[in-house]
Amino acid sequence: MLLLSPMASAQSLGEALQECPGTLTGSTEPRQIHLQLTDNPSKVVVMWATARRGNAVVEWNGQSADGDSYCYNHDMAFHMASMTDLTPGEEVTYRVGDGNDWSQEYTFTPIDIEAERFEWIAIADHGDSSEALDVSEAIIADTTAQMVTISGDISYADGEQSVWDDWFANQEASMTRIPWVTAVGNHENEPGFEFTPYAHRFDADEVKEAEPFWYSRDFSGVHMVFMSTEHDYDSSSVQYAALEADLSAADANREQRPFIVVIAHKPMYSSNGYHGSEIALRVAVEELYQNHGVDLVIAGHDHFYERTWPVYQEEPQTFGDEDGTLFGQGSGPIHIVAGNAGRTPYTEMDEPQPAWSAYREVDTFGYMKLIYDGESRSLSFTFHRTDETIGDQFTIQEGVLNEKMEEQFQFIPGFGTLLPVISIICAAFFRNDSHCCSESDMVSC
Ligand SMILES: [Fe+2]
Ligand SMILES: [Fe+2]
Repeated sequence: MLLLSPMASAQSLGEALQECPGTLTGSTEPRQIHLQLTDNPSKVVVMWATARRGNAVVEWNGQSADGDSYCYNHDMAFHMASMTDLTPGEEVTYRVGDGNDWSQEYTFTPIDIEAERFEWIAIADHGDSSEALDVSEAIIADTTAQMVTISGDISYADGEQSVWDDWFANQEASMTRIPWVTAVGNHENEPGFEFTPYAHRFDADEVKEAEPFWYSRDFSGVHMVFMSTEHDYDSSSVQYAALEADLSAADANREQRPFIVVIAHKPMYSSNGYHGSEIALRVAVEELYQNHGVDLVIAGHDHFYERTWPVYQEEPQTFGDEDGTLFGQGSGPIHIVAGNAGRTPYTEMDEPQPAWSAYREVDTFGYMKLIYDGESRSLSFTFHRTDETIGDQFTIQEGVLNEKMEEQFQFIPGFGTLLPVISIICAAFFRNDSHCCSESDMVSC
């Protein structure tokens, strides 16, 4: 499903030559090749850059299609072309070029959004530091992820456009075989350029030079919403109306896709002292997320790792099973801050740790791996550090957790309504080791 979003205007050849005269000369070797998802699983867009402006052609599995070429105020020409009539789950071999000079051949497998299993990697706040390259290397080495999501702050070009060129080159070994799907961060709004570089280098709508800032995609078991914390999101905004319509439709389609995940940059819950919780965002959309049962929100912006309990209005709604690592649905979203993919860590944290914060760590780098398993109808989440240790891990399963426990106690009048109160008392007691406080502990609390 594609949501309504503002778009840049198309560019004539005359405008392009005026803006990017440097693209009249140079190499036609395709670089920065990257796949982009569309909202049609049998259609995949490929984008690339060349020093010299020229034709755009993609060849795949014996077929060929012409694409579009364009540029912005930077001396590289950009190209995009669509591979169509693909069979989800079946490998495709492709190459791109101008009809004379070609890239090498690459292969990818279009995502089957009705398969039994779906795996993806999530990161935020990336850039090109040596730590960021460690994360890139780990992503490239992963052979089972079918996609990468970035919750904003992607290259940190900040007006220096060659930084984007280098960033795409760094990820090329991954991006030629799986799509990287993005939400914008504050660093995509560049000095002197605003969102123009982002709009020319990524594509989620098959319209050249025009990137929607909010949209959604369906995958096996998961409806995923990419929203923008960098555009209006208050209740009278266009984005809010689009989010409301999208989440409402997704919530009515749980049988097909049990989980709703939001990818966005600024976190509405963060106990980091650098930025902290984005209160205006929480005021604007938390109730919407709660009412439509959003299961997981993956944000960045603060350069550390944090996971909340399922939370609403700053109150933890449940502590999951006895290990505090298995959760059901319907309590409230779990919020992740995953701003630890390569930028300088923000090490000062709010003390004491808020009751809604389940786990947090600073000074580490890594990526999140998420797996939807259609057999158990569960979504598992693992934070992998780049030193190959695991930082955090939990699973959300379809339906309400501990139904049995609630049935057991339903003879006690008002037990259900007391649960959140008991949870908060527990959290206060166990603040220093909140993993030990679970719903089963509540019985003895
Ligand atoms: Fe950042
Ligand atoms: Fe940011």
